[in-house]
This record gives sequence, structure tokens and C-alpha cells, in this order.
Amino acid sequence: MTAAASLSDITARIQKATTLAELDVLEQELFGRKQGLLTVAMKELGSATPEERIAKGKELNALKQECTSLLASRRQELSLSMLGSFGETDRLDVTLDLPARQRGHLHLIPEFIRSVEDVFGRMGFDVAEGPEIEDEARQFDLLNFPKDHAARDAQDIFYVDVDSPPDNRFLLRGHTSPVQIRYMQTHKPPLRIICPGKVYRKDADATHSPMFHQFEGLMIDKDTSLANMKAVMITAIRELISPNAEFRFRTGFFPFVEPGLEVDMRWQGAESESREGKWMEIAGCGMVHPSVLKNCDIDPKKFQGFAFGFGVERMIMIKHQIPDLRSFYEGDLRFLKQF
Ligand code: DAH
Repeated sequence: MTAAASLSDITARIQKATTLAELDVLEQELFGRKQGLLTVAMKELGSATPEERIAKGKELNALKQECTSLLASRRQELSLSMLGSFGETDRLDVTLDLPARQRGHLHLIPEFIRSVEDVFGRMGFDVAEGPEIEDEARQFDLLNFPKDHAARDAQDIFYVDVDSPPDNRFLLRGHTSPVQIRYMQTHKPPLRIICPGKVYRKDADATHSPMFHQFEGLMIDKDTSLANMKAVMITAIRELISPNAEFRFRTGFFPFVEPGLEVDMRWQGAESESREGKWMEIAGCGMVHPSVLKNCDIDPKKFQGFAFGFGVERMIMIKHQIPDLRSFYEGDLRFLKQF
């Protein structure tokens, strides 16, 4: 078959093509760089006479344009009809059962902290936060810890190796009480806050971890009393742990409160039978020491108030009878999914 003959029937072949792949082959047959029928015919013009060249050149250009637009329109037709037939060939079965999506939930520590914020929020307490790297002044001195007092020992541990004044070094905070100081330094009474967050100590066993969570509470007003403190704490614990809780307040020493108290709880009623009826220590608290108020420019003759500190993991362990604190941090889904 001569090139001219092939060219004359090529438009018919484009129109009859039934797949996109066929069109690609035809395009190549026409425009291929070396063997393409049109490419070759164009090259041959070079050896034709000038008259022939003009006449033949026009003809070939017209054919080129025709083929290009035929190829494009046939391509479009074929693509559209393929899309149309998808519905016939690829059926979507909307009744098919897919494996259920697993939904996660908050870890029980942040979840508990949220409920702490909720319960105290309803009693008018704001949430305040402080840094986990604290300075010695706020961690100890301004909280009325005497310089070489043994009360510092449990928290006098994780110093951070950064530039700091020699008498006010940075360390990982051992309790959330410094947030009280930060807040009193920047706010005027009346104040009502809770301060949840991470703290660091050197203990590590089934009931102690080098990192754990606490929340501090602070309320300062003109005539806030120890009775107010007991009411707030008991209301919160009953909501957070169980309405069937019984309490005992014992005197205890914390340099930043006077008097200082320790709070124990035990189960009462039906729960005490299934659970051990032992007293469990649950918080420290007391009336904010006048020196602490003065350190924060608050006049202890005009204002007084209470502070308390709870261990979050401890509360959750008591609530759910979890024997080993380390379960909180192991990331074992069999444990975490139970809560
Ligand atoms: N900061 C104490 C600790 O970590 C807990 C504490 C005790 C906080 C008594 C208080 C308080 O606010 O009044 O052991």
C-alpha cells in the first residue's frame, strides 16, 4: 500500500477506532518521528518541483489538521463512553459489610483531669498552668521551705544544666505548688484556681513513678475558712471518686500551709465490703501560710485562704482499684481499653 493510499483511508480508521489504545497506534502511524506517514510525506516535498510542492503542501497541511482534530474528538467520545459504561461493569455494593472502624478515646489520665476541671469549674475555680521546669525560688523558697530543710529532699533532684543564677537554679518541678506562687504573683485576690500538671520525683515502684500528675488547688478571699476547704474537697472527691467515700483529716506538715492537714478516705457502705476498708491517704492541704501570702505581695491581714494538692494517678488507682501505677504508662491496650 502506498503512502497516499494509507493516508486516504486513515480518517476512516480513526473514526472506526474502538479503544484509546488503537488511537495511540494510529497517531504514531501518522506523526511518528521517523516512519510517520505524514512525517515522511512532508519530507518528500523537499524533492518535488516548486508547483508540486505548493499544491501537495496545502493538501498535506489540510490532512494534518483534519487528522489532529479527528483524533481529539474520537478520544473524547471514547473516554466518555468508557465512563458511561463504568456503571455497568463496576458495580458498587453499598450493602457490603466492611470491618468496623476502631475508635480510640482519651487515656484515663487526661480524661480524669478533664473531669477534675469540670467539677472544680462548677465551683468557680479557673484552671492555671505553670512550666515543668521551675526555679528554686518558686519551687521552694517562696513556698516557705527553709534553706536546708529536710522537706526539700524528695523534690530536690532533677536540676537542669542551663545558665542560671547560682542561688536560683532550674529543676524539674517536684510538685504543682509553684503554680500557686506564679498565679499569686500575677493576680490579685479573690482567687480560685486548680493547677493540673506533671511533676517529677526520684521514686519508682508499683505505687510511685518518677513522673506523675498532680493538681493543686488554691482559694484566697477575705474570709475563706478551713470549713470551706473541707466542703470543697469533700464535694470534689465524692464526685470524682465515689459518693460512698468517708474522710479523715489529720494534721500534717507542709511548709506552705498552717495548719497543714493530710486527708485520708475509705469506702463506706456496700463498697467497703467488696473493697478493703483501709484508710488511704489522698491529699495534702491547709490554710495558706501568711509568709507565702506576703512573698506574693498579698496582705495576710486582709486575705486568707486554703490550698490543697492531689495525686491524679493515686485518685484513679483508688477509684478503679488499680494495683500497679506502671500500668498507666505501658501503653497496653488490654489495660487502657477497660476505662
Ligand atoms: N505539694 C505537696 C506535695 O507534693 C502537696 C500539697 C500539700 C499541696 C499541702 C498543697 C498543700 O497545696 O496545701 O507533696
